[in-house]
Amino acid sequence: MLHESHAELARWGAAAVRESFAAYQAEFKHVTRRAKLRFELRDWRGTQADALERLELRARCIAHAVEELRGVLGAAASDPLLREQMKSDYERDLYDRLDPELAKSFFNSVTRRIFGTIGVDPRAEFVATGVDPQPTVAGARIYRTHPRQGTTEALIAALLRDYPFAAPFRDLEGDARLAAAELDAYLRDSDDARPLESVELLKSVFYRGKGAYLVGRIRRGDSVSPFILPLLHGDGGIYVDAVLLSPHDASIVFSFTRSYFHVEVDHTGELIAFLKTILPQKKTSELYIAIGYNKHGKTVLYREIVEHLAHTRDRFEAARGDRGMVMVVFTLPSLDVVFKVIRDRFAPPKSVTRQEVMQKYALVFRHDRAGRLVDAQEFEHIVFERARLAPELLDELLREAGETVHADHEHVFIRHMYAERRVVPLNLFIRERDEWSARDALLDYGRSIRDLAATNTFPGDLLLKNFGVTRTGRVIFYDYDELCLVTDCNFREIPRARDDADEMSDEPWFYVGENDVFPEEFIHFLGLPEGLRGSFLASHGEIMTAAFWRRMQELHRAGEIVDIFPYRESQRLRRVGR
Ligand SMILES: Nc1ncnc2c1ncn2[C@@H]1O[C@H](COP(=O)(O)OP(=O)(O)OP(=O)(O)O)[C@@H](O)[C@H]1O
Ligand SMILES: [Mg+2]
Repeated sequence: MLHESHAELARWGAAAVRESFAAYQAEFKHVTRRAKLRFELRDWRGTQADALERLELRARCIAHAVEELRGVLGAAASDPLLREQMKSDYERDLYDRLDPELAKSFFNSVTRRIFGTIGVDPRAEFVATGVDPQPTVAGARIYRTHPRQGTTEALIAALLRDYPFAAPFRDLEGDARLAAAELDAYLRDSDDARPLESVELLKSVFYRGKGAYLVGRIRRGDSVSPFILPLLHGDGGIYVDAVLLSPHDASIVFSFTRSYFHVEVDHTGELIAFLKTILPQKKTSELYIAIGYNKHGKTVLYREIVEHLAHTRDRFEAARGDRGMVMVVFTLPSLDVVFKVIRDRFAPPKSVTRQEVMQKYALVFRHDRAGRLVDAQEFEHIVFERARLAPELLDELLREAGETVHADHEHVFIRHMYAERRVVPLNLFIRERDEWSARDALLDYGRSIRDLAATNTFPGDLLLKNFGVTRTGRVIFYDYDELCLVTDCNFREIPRARDDADEMSDEPWFYVGENDVFPEEFIHFLGLPEGLRGSFLASHGEIMTAAFWRRMQELHRAGEIVDIFPYRESQRLRRVGR
């Protein structure tokens, strides 16, 4: 029986979490709403500041709630009946919320911390929240339907006019004409001969970096396909920069290697269900993460993993590729996710500490990921069934990461790990694929380093094994322990040797500071295949010069903000020479 005083505390606790959640959502929306203004004013510095502010918001609200609840609940927090009661009190008040799934995962975050939950406690916390959000009748309200008109141009002009930006379009009719030509060509070339019936466009605009994205779908009979218009705001006003229509292009816009969108929405489940119709390959978790509800997305990812485990029989095993010196990396063959556990000790030459490694992952979390840095979700206190781990993997985890991983007869407990999307390590890709694919990948590897440099990121360890190839064929980076800001490095030329003894010396004969980097040396340890070296150097040779990196430093020190757009130059509507 729940003691009356504990029942009272449970009621109070539920109300306290409810208020904290409401405050978090209010603040989240407040910051998110500013994105429109920033775009209209071309205030890119403000955009960056908002992104940071929003990333830190949830942790701050949770910490505040935890402190308050701990203070009031005291020893009563250990009463399992109180925990159950608090959950049911909280749930009763969710019926009129449009975002109950977010409210539930917020509750879980707070109470897990207070109760010190390990694994999952279904009596005290919500399970299976929001894995499969369903569109409801209210659905029609989150998007507008633009029926087919006399011309595609008229249709696009009409839908652009529906977005009341407080800044003018540079040439709305001209954009509509160009965009219509793209759309018509796409429809003409597609396998589906049915005519376009309508464009259904989300009312909420997706803001990220310098871009504002109108996101929707084309309807032809019972089938839908993506329709995304990236808008930019230049000197002369707002303009449509591209028309993205293929599932491939849409997937890149919503990639897990991008920073999160700022998009104002009340009915989150509804929005996710809509996005799923044009991005069927993406997991629900990835979509929540993409719109900035990353911690909720993480909870959903956990559920997706649990459900996946329940329906499969394969075992966790070491990820393919070279073993990491800092991380033990493992995966389930049937699931495209890898898990990374920090080793207890790192062999030389690694001189970082666990703390520093975690700081690097935190740095990436806050930084513009530029479409080139994989998003890593941090998990604590995870439990897997022991039988699901291959024995060699379990041995390695216990031996190499015994401070983080424990096991009993039935379970394996992991105190801390990162989860991220699995890609194909670039060293394997180049070794295993045909020469053309390998060359393409290597060229994109060079572009990847350039994109990172343009957004003030120096990967630190440029070896091919630290990059991977995504489903859409893009080369991205995933090994963060040596990553740093370009502006924090000292890029140097190798001094000329004074004599033969210098030349022959194994050790550098000149002073090397802690942050010194010698780009001329990169080529010697990258181990590029002989046949591909020439074409790589022809396109990206300047990456091997200190001058290139110093130029990047100047750019950043001058305060320039470069945005790497999620589509190719050749997809831009008004590209040079057109
Ligand atoms: N997202 C991923 N998808 C597929 N494989 C991955 C992924 N992340 C890591 N791996 C594999 O695990 C290996 C080790 O991972 P990672 O490079 O992150 O760890 P590390 O210990 O920091 O490595 P290093 O010793 O190079 O510093 C990689 O070389 C790669 O083979
Ligand atoms: Mg590595």
